[in-house]
Amino acid sequence: MSTPPILYEDLSQLHEPIQPLIEEAFRKSIKKGQFILGEEVEAFEQKLSESTYRDYAIGLSSGTAALTLLLKAMKEQNDRRMVVLPAMVCMPVVAAVVEAGCEPIFVDVSFGRYTIDPDLADAAMNDKVLALIAVHLYGHVCELDRLKLLCERDGAYLLEDCAQAQGALWKGKPVGSFGDAAAFSFYPTKHLGALGDAGAAVTSNSEWAEYIKKAREYGSFTRGPYSFLTGNYRMDTIQAAILLAKWPYWMEWVEKRNTHARLYLDQLIEIGLELPKKVVEAKDAQHVFPVLSSNRNRLTQQLLELGIETAQHYSYVSALQPVFKGKFISKDYPVACKVANEQISLTCSAVHKQETIEKVIKHLKVILNFG
Ligand SMILES: Cc1ncc(COP(=O)(O)O)c(C=O)c1O
Repeated sequence: MSTPPILYEDLSQLHEPIQPLIEEAFRKSIKKGQFILGEEVEAFEQKLSESTYRDYAIGLSSGTAALTLLLKAMKEQNDRRMVVLPAMVCMPVVAAVVEAGCEPIFVDVSFGRYTIDPDLADAAMNDKVLALIAVHLYGHVCELDRLKLLCERDGAYLLEDCAQAQGALWKGKPVGSFGDAAAFSFYPTKHLGALGDAGAAVTSNSEWAEYIKKAREYGSFTRGPYSFLTGNYRMDTIQAAILLAKWPYWMEWVEKRNTHARLYLDQLIEIGLELPKKVVEAKDAQHVFPVLSSNRNRLTQQLLELGIETAQHYSYVSALQPVFKGKFISKDYPVACKVANEQISLTCSAVHKQETIEKVIKHLKVILNFG
């Protein structure tokens, strides 16, 4: 009998132990007959605002919606239009900037952390910058103190993108509690994932919260009067009910992912892979465990032949996508380009036992001739 493959992620296995709770959430929602916003969304918003020390959390249809509406809310009070963001980032973040009517200014990421480089961000900031988006990529917390100071100096807002880092801490405080606002995604593979799309914005700015509550429903939550028009960015009641059911478990899953990351960090040293770096101020919430290899394609193929699935986050540089043709050049983003060409995501799924991660490590060592 052949050995089962080591999947990069397996959401059905993750959900299996709590399936009755999830089904119960479904059943209750169907029985109640409410499917858009409502009590469950409000209860979820309450939990999220408490966990991020914020006055307001607004449940939305996705993380992209959260970023878009937060930027739009910021624009309501400010004429600035430029947004500083990391060059190594997934396209939804860039799409949100453009959708909100802002102009992206890409800044390279720092080697090892792969979050926005604060020195380069410093150089890129000016008095036309509306916001800096601190994307806690891979669950690695950005250098929040420095970024906050830069924003304060130049009168820009600090917007945290916590989509990949829910549960991470900076100097003991949760991500999402540092910036002027933060966006969360509950895309199914995130630390706390819905069974579909969902997201949320958190802030303690009452005017932004009011704007976003209107903006998630075309421009008014009382069906008029409409002083502006947007679109439909509401959270589904069923998704909120599922997120509430999953709430007691996701932190345990993050701990497990962090334990897997620790094992990789301890055992993959000096075998020719670039490993991520840890910093003392941060307790990361490992969403992706990134390694860099100059032989990416060969290595991923060899792992796959052994039944070990990997992923890539990301194999492109956002600034160099055709949508920005001719506007930005690769030499400005050497680290992001290296990541795009060499990054491999090793599984740190919470469904895996320690032995499974050890198996991945063992195979990697053999392939790279260190076993
Ligand atoms: C860092 C980051 N920001 C934003 C998003 C967008 O979230 P969503 O897919 O919920 O729109 C994602 C997820 O894809 C993400 O990983």
